[in-house]
Amino acid sequence: MAALSFAYSRVASSDLDDSSSSNGKASDKGSKRQDVRSLVITGATWGLLVISNLTLLGLWWRSSQLAKVCVRPKLSYSPAKEAIKYELRRLHRALDHNNFTGEPRQEFDAAWNQILEPDLLDPKHETAMTIKISQEELSHLSDESIAFQDGSGYIAELAVYHEIHCVKILRRFLNMDYYYPNITKEKLDFEKVHADHCLEYLREAAMCRGDTTLTTFFWKNEIPYSRVYSDHECVNWEALDTWARSRMVDMSSYDHLEH
Ligand SMILES: *[C@@H]1O[C@H](CO)[C@@H](O)[C@H](O)[C@H]1NC(C)=O
Ligand SMILES: *[C@@H]1O[C@H](CO)[C@@H](O)[C@H](O)[C@H]1NC(C)=O
Repeated sequence: MAALSFAYSRVASSDLDDSSSSNGKASDKGSKRQDVRSLVITGATWGLLVISNLTLLGLWWRSSQLAKVCVRPKLSYSPAKEAIKYELRRLHRALDHNNFTGEPRQEFDAAWNQILEPDLLDPKHETAMTIKISQEELSHLSDESIAFQDGSGYIAELAVYHEIHCVKILRRFLNMDYYYPNITKEKLDFEKVHADHCLEYLREAAMCRGDTTLTTFFWKNEIPYSRVYSDHECVNWEALDTWARSRMVDMSSYDHLEH
């Protein structure tokens, strides 16, 4: 018992050791009180340690559960949900040194072709990226789709690629002379409807998402301007894009599809 309490007091507090050795002539009663005190302190310390560890474990478990529960979509179905990870990202909307903005030029076309690379697999560029989904995945949706002849699945499209495709279409529309030289009246009418469709697609997408990120203001020439950048909760694009590209299908011909 004495050895045990000695060991405990060493673990518990070096102050106690110091005080007991400096009070070398303390009575038996006094050292017993010391023993009890150090036992209580040791017990309390271990108790706190266990409680704080359990609390941390609980918090970690809760946050990992919440991270799973909070992944969207929840009301609709998408197999791409497994690729969704959220991150805080500042969106800059910079016009300078940005390959996605400005006048048509080689880097601009390269950037847009890269982000919508799968778009190029469809020579008519009528669709955004097309992916393959399974029969089981299709069964969660309310409509049928077009099947592959080999029975390997069905074609589908992720909305985000249609949105990006729409921005690309609108950028081309801003530069008609460059992208549609000598355009016919018929084709021009079609492209106007296409642009209208894309604007509506993006309007609904913005209102559907209802991004509530706040942007602050500053004075410029006596006018309050909202800042062009803001910090958003974003989907990690690389993870989602990697998932989508792993399912990408070749739409350069429709021969492998059931008609
Ligand atoms: C812009 O495009 C060029 C050429 O494709 C590339 O080298 C450069 O890294 C791109 N810049 C950015 C910011 O992506
Ligand atoms: C557009 O039409 C002009 C005049 O008819 C012609 O010289 C030019 O080569 C045409 N451009 C293209 C890209 O077809």
